[in-house]
Amino acid sequence: MKALIADKFPENHIQTLKDNGIEVSYQPKLGENDIPGACADADFIVVRSTVVNAAAINAGSSLKLVIRAGSGYNNIDVKAATEKGVAVCNTPGKNSIAVAELAMGLIISLDRRIPDNVKDFNAGVWNKAKYSAAEGLYGKTLGIIGVGNIGKEIAQRAKAFGMKVVGYDVFKQEGIGVEYIDDVEKLISVSDVITLHVPANPQTKGMFNDKLFGIMKKKAMLINTSRADVIDEDALIKAVKEKGIQAAVDVFKGEPEGKDGAVSSKLQNVEGVYVTHHIGASTEQAQDAVAEETIKIIVDYAKNGTILHQVNKK
Ligand code: 3PG
Repeated sequence: MKALIADKFPENHIQTLKDNGIEVSYQPKLGENDIPGACADADFIVVRSTVVNAAAINAGSSLKLVIRAGSGYNNIDVKAATEKGVAVCNTPGKNSIAVAELAMGLIISLDRRIPDNVKDFNAGVWNKAKYSAAEGLYGKTLGIIGVGNIGKEIAQRAKAFGMKVVGYDVFKQEGIGVEYIDDVEKLISVSDVITLHVPANPQTKGMFNDKLFGIMKKKAMLINTSRADVIDEDALIKAVKEKGIQAAVDVFKGEPEGKDGAVSSKLQNVEGVYVTHHIGASTEQAQDAVAEETIKIIVDYAKNGTILHQVNKK
């Protein structure tokens, strides 16, 4: 059987796939419009954030699984896959630690304004008075919206910093140090830092809007390492300018599909907003764990016909 890997994938794990009898076409630079021409004879397509559209799904007759080597699968046309009887799978939880590590990094960066500190220093500007105004995290309340695999990892890390952790989710996990609040608006109103961990879907689109920014405490922080669509970016800019809200996001509207090149966003150069390059999952530890699970999905299917982590079950 043949796997097309159309995104960056650790090379030692590619060898493991070959050792298991899978023919591998490793083309990490393919973009959305290249995949249909490259997947005609593939049984498996593996991607990270590269888009797999309906044309790709319909391009070949042997396609069995589209595997999102990661968590959020909004880059895959799940409807087209379901109509064609192709399973879409992901690797839930495997990159959670890395995302939680970045979220903590963003929180500390905002509190201490580390990126601005460094930028000023490199520009020859010394401003100890300005940068000595941090509030600190100890004793502050962290509100987690969406307490799944990532939320649980963040809770543990925030606790180690002496933060009080509150959470909002329909599914409640016991024993993870999170005090659940069933009303999301209440959670927002009591939190000094809010971190979002919800999937992109019609219910969460534009969820964090003027109304929710209006409920946030003055100068509170908002962290988004989930999906850009969850936040109304105009409302965010307004809240930053009018209410002193501070934000750090790893995802934004108009994220380029390519791995390098130019980028343009309305969040550029807004004081109080930090944007990173959608790197939440990009640590060696996380990508090894994701690759191992991806291989498990492919090899299990090739050997036993079983499908792990299918997200489009009927
Ligand atoms: C995910 O959904 O797994 C994360 O957003 C990571 O995406 P990436 O693998 O494209 O970096």
